Amino acid sequence: MKVIVLRELCMGHAQCEDIAPDVFSLDDEGIAVVLQDDFPESFRPKVEQSIRHCPTNAILIGDS
Ligand code: F3S
Repeated sequence: MKVIVLRELCMGHAQCEDIAPDVFSLDDEGIAVVLQDDFPESFRPKVEQSIRHCPTNAILIGDS
């Protein structure tokens, strides 16, 4: 499962990092980055929760 952060939409609200710190981390500019190229399906619930809580809709699950 690919996880994508749209950098132009991310405003650094950090809910994603709070919910799934093993998936998301904020970089030096305060923008979320994903920590791996590919995640096991077991990560999906936490990623979907992050998607629901991101105020700027900056997170997507990609087809893989
Ligand atoms: Fe950015 Fe949304 Fe996370 S704004 S820091 S992707 S909660």
